[in-house]
Order: sequence, then structure tokens, then C-alpha cells
Amino acid sequence: MTDLLVTGVAGFIGSNFVYHYLRRYPDDTIIGIDALTYAGNLENLASLPEKEKTRFRFVKADITDRQAIENIFRKHPVEGIIHFAAESHVDRSIHDPGSFLRTNVLGTGNLLDQARKYLKGGQFLQVSTDEVYGTLGATGSFSESTPLDPHSPYSASKASADLLVKAYFDTYGLPVFITRCSNNYGPYQFPEKLIPLIIRNALNHQPLPVYGDGRQVRDWLYVDDHCNAIDLVYRKGTPGGIYNIGGNNEWENIEIVKLIISLLQEETGDLGINESLIRHVQDRPGHDRRYAIDSTKIRSELGWKPEISFPDGIRSTIKWYLTHRDWVEHVISGEYQLFYQENYGARLG
Ligand SMILES: NC(=O)c1ccc[n+]([C@@H]2O[C@H](COP(=O)([O-])OP(=O)(O)OC[C@H]3O[C@@H](n4cnc5c(N)ncnc54)[C@H](O)[C@@H]3O)[C@@H](O)[C@H]2O)c1
Repeated sequence: MTDLLVTGVAGFIGSNFVYHYLRRYPDDTIIGIDALTYAGNLENLASLPEKEKTRFRFVKADITDRQAIENIFRKHPVEGIIHFAAESHVDRSIHDPGSFLRTNVLGTGNLLDQARKYLKGGQFLQVSTDEVYGTLGATGSFSESTPLDPHSPYSASKASADLLVKAYFDTYGLPVFITRCSNNYGPYQFPEKLIPLIIRNALNHQPLPVYGDGRQVRDWLYVDDHCNAIDLVYRKGTPGGIYNIGGNNEWENIEIVKLIISLLQEETGDLGINESLIRHVQDRPGHDRRYAIDSTKIRSELGWKPEISFPDGIRSTIKWYLTHRDWVEHVISGEYQLFYQENYGARLG
């Protein structure tokens, strides 16, 4: 029996993917790896039903560790790889670009190298991001042929990894896919990202930091719809192909913040959650103004479309965070507190 190797299983999208995959394919097994950085939390997988837990095996491993990754391939027959593991927070990449180069570029390179040696025809799916395309003006959208033009160390490291993935297809014929998705939201997202950060701070009546004028535009997609798309590309995509994934659901950051405030007020009846908590803070350097994805290719070639409407998805996400306040406090109890204090504390006053 062979395993699907999934990296980054203790993070936001990786853990959602494990739930999705084991539920959908009752005969399949996953070997999940994660270095358990500040963003990785095994508690994210604690709600797997007992029967599904038996089809999931976890190995703590750093993707940059050649020996550790090789050991996994030697011990377990791997049928293919879905690669989520990454340093993923743009702000952190501005403060510490080195760890992004290490994990996102060298780590991906290491996985590709082991895949080339051991996969024997199995496929490699690189989970990438729309941020590799750079920024847009008021109109237009990114297609798969839009030139790469990343602006942050995070997006530059993801673009570099994408190029390595393509090189392994062109040079060695490794069957690869690259997916580039817009902003995700949903359960288990680490509370340094916009939506869970705003929910947590609002519930605690703390300032709600908004970069600059808050009019940066992002296209939001529910995490399960992203997992579905990855699954579909892995099973039915054309090797060597790039697939953009997006929700056609553009929002200015400031409008998302106001929406969360009003939904939280409705759900909790707490009038202390209101727009007076909003604080405009100095904009992030190199901050991309607008992202929008043209997902025509995956829709027409593979028949994918988002299943969860934004009003349903955002309300259920807010309800999830309301019922998982312990999880939130638990996952941020360590290093994140320090990062938040050092980088936002002073500006929020
Ligand atoms: N969150 C989004 O909106 C979004 C959108 C498009 C693409 N993506 C991509 O999806 C992937 C997952 O994103 P996420 O939001 O779940 O990120 P996340 O930060 O929540 O999770 C990343 C996981 O990778 C693990 N990890 C980090 N460095 C590692 C290393 N050296 N070795 C092994 N594991 C390591 C972390 O412990 C964590 O569990 C990333 O590749 C990201 O670029 C994210």
C-alpha cells in the first residue's frame, strides 16, 4: 500500500486538506510531515474521526533536512506529494527573509530532489500563491501566463520555488503541477492573518490594525474550495500545468474588517465590538494593492467551481472561531505573542 505524502499538515490549509482527503477517499492513507514551527499545531488534526486517524501517520520533519526526508521515502512507499509546507506570512518575510529562502526555496528543492529519486512516476503538486504575479491596478486579473513579478520576500521565495518545480518537469520529466490560489479563509487559520486576527482582537476589544488606507483588494476563497481544487488538479490535471484558483470574490481589507465587526456584533450581542476599534497603521513596505485571479482554466478544463458562498463561509468561520477560543489562545501562546508585541505593539499604542 502506498501513501500520499502531504507536507505542512499541521498548518492552516494542510490540516484542512487532511480532513478533506481522508473523508473523501476512505481507502487512502496519508503520511503527513511538518516541522511544527510556530504556525504548525498538531491540535489542528485532533478532530479526525478515530477511523480516519488509522489512515494518517505523522512524522515530525523539516523539509530542508535531507536525511530526514530521504528516510521517509526509504521507509514508506510514497505514491505522490502535495506540498503545502512553507513560511507563509508576508510580514515575517520582511523581518526575517532568510527563513523564507531556507524553507520555501531550499526545502522545496530538497523535496523535488528526493521525489526525482524515489517517486517512480508519482506526481508532485506545488501549492503556490497568486502573490507570485505581483500587483494589479483597478481592473484586470492574473492568468496562468501573467509574468512572475513578486514584491515581498515571501512571494519571491514562492516564485523561486515554482521555477524549481518547473525545472524538474522540464529537465527530469517529474510529473508536477503548480496551483496558485488567492487568499484563503476558514477554520484553523493561524491568528496572525487578517480574518482570524481581527476576530480575536475584536472579541477582546483590542485595536484592529489596518494597513494604510485599508483599500488593498484581495480575492477570498473558502479553504475547502481550495482543497477541492488541489485534489482535482492532482487527480485530473495535465502534468507540467499551472492552475490558478480564485473565488471571484474581491473585497477591500477595510470592508472585510467592517463586515467581521458587524457579524461578531450580531453573533455575540457585544456592542463593545464596533468600528471605533479600527486603527490605521503605517502601510507594509512593498504592499501589493490588488490581486484578482482569472480561474477560467481550472473551471473549463477540470470543471471546478467554488461550492461555498462568501456569506455562508464567513459566517461559519466566525462561528468556528467563537467556539474555538481556547484553540486560538493555545496556538498563539508561544513565539507569536513576542512577534506581535515587537512588530505591532508600538504602533497600536
Ligand atoms: N493562506 C493562504 O491564503 C494561501 C493562499 C495561497 C497559497 N497558500 C500556500 O499554501 C501553503 C499553506 O499555507 P498556510 O496558510 O496553510 O500556511 P501555514 O503557515 O498555516 O502552515 C504552514 C505549515 O508549514 C510548516 N512548515 C514551515 N516550515 C517548515 C519546514 N521547514 N519543514 C516542514 N514544515 C514546515 C509549518 O509548521 C506549518 O504547519 C503555503 O505554501 C502557502 O504559500 C496559502
